[in-house]
Amino acid sequence: MSILIRGGKPLKGKVWCDGAKNAALPIMAGAILTDDSVEIKNVPFLLDVETMLSVLRAIGVNAVYSGRSAKMSPGRRLQPEAPYDLVRRMRASFLVMGPLLARCGTAAVPLPGGCAIGQRPVDLHLKGFQAMGATVSVEHGFIIAKANRLKGAEIYLDIPSVGATENIMMAAALADGETVIENAAQEPEVVDLANFLNAMGADIKGGGTTRIRISGVKELHGVEYSIIPDRIEAATFAIAAAMTKGKVTIENVIPTHLRSVLAKIKECGAYIFEGARSIDIEMLQRPEPTNIKTQPYPGFPTDVQAPYMALCTIAAGTSIISETVFENRFAHAEELGRMGARIRIEGPNAVIEGVPRLAGAQVQATDLRAGAALSLAGLAAEGETEVIGTEHIERGYCDFVEKLRGLGADVVSTEASNRFHRGIARP
Ligand code: UD1
Repeated sequence: MSILIRGGKPLKGKVWCDGAKNAALPIMAGAILTDDSVEIKNVPFLLDVETMLSVLRAIGVNAVYSGRSAKMSPGRRLQPEAPYDLVRRMRASFLVMGPLLARCGTAAVPLPGGCAIGQRPVDLHLKGFQAMGATVSVEHGFIIAKANRLKGAEIYLDIPSVGATENIMMAAALADGETVIENAAQEPEVVDLANFLNAMGADIKGGGTTRIRISGVKELHGVEYSIIPDRIEAATFAIAAAMTKGKVTIENVIPTHLRSVLAKIKECGAYIFEGARSIDIEMLQRPEPTNIKTQPYPGFPTDVQAPYMALCTIAAGTSIISETVFENRFAHAEELGRMGARIRIEGPNAVIEGVPRLAGAQVQATDLRAGAALSLAGLAAEGETEVIGTEHIERGYCDFVEKLRGLGADVVSTEASNRFHRGIARP
């Protein structure tokens, strides 16, 4: 599948943000921590959510999705083994390890391995489980962790890993005694997970700071919980508005979650008004060049790096982007180059010399955020762009094409078009 975009139309109107993918996935995994039913609302309809539902079903949970709501209830006895095929498809499946270990005393989850944006090891997750008394071994490609009863521990994370903080927090929720995570990730999605677990009866303090304290409780109970809006989706639409000289209201967003991104878009020359749950953005000029450095929250999010690079390609000058979170997250640069962008990669830095206009082309999405970046480039480019590999976009953006169309973009979802394949519009 692909997206066909006829560029050059300013985006105008209102767009509604769905629930945060990166909050939904760990929270769904956290539902394993109770025998009661759990209902999670505002869950976006995404491929990654479907994959997590499949993982949960495979380990014995009744998991049903309808109307943006995911219901999880205990089915047969939990099978503490996650299937290779699903974990291979989505690394976030690894988030079932902590809850399984806490509930079953054992968990077997395939080694997630590397992916398109880098090595992405899980050593910090495992270090946390070991500190809580688990034995960890690797057998036939599976990581196997065992602990009759997890014990509270002091855990220092070398890197404030989002996934490790979440996995350890979930395991610690049912452990004996207190666990302290030092240098914890402060992302809003970590806070949402802590709030969700507390609503189930957990005792977690310090979510959103670098020191999280979890006092283990005997059991957790069922809950109905609504997750936070997706700040990465909101950032993507804000950048799209800025790139197309548009005027857009983004609804269902928590502006404080977007401080770093909005600061940069303002620096580019956009007018931004923050409401309580909305953001108005208007751009009247070509973007000024800006430099960004990706960092853990509250720094500039690595997930917005690719879309932001698309914006820099049409800035009136040279911008520098430093990627410090993942080591190999510039695959979109080469594809943007096919549209006329001038980007030089120098180690962890991308030097982007802005051009007045990009030219539509056929490009390939290599991962989720790269797919978003190429689509934004297509919206601002002259002529037609075809972004191939939309399955990546569907992993993380709900109704992406429909929402862009709602803002007046000339965009359709299609089978890969043969016009480009015949080479007519190929640069
Ligand atoms: C989560 C997000 C992803 C986002 C990333 C960083 C989800 C489902 N995904 O991914 O969209 O891009 O945070 O904001 O929430 N690392 C280690 N050892 C570990 C774990 C991580 O070295 O055990 C390294 C990683 O290789 C990476 C850095 O830490 O360089 C940050 O990764 P991490 O925060 O764990 O990202 P994820 O939780 O996988």
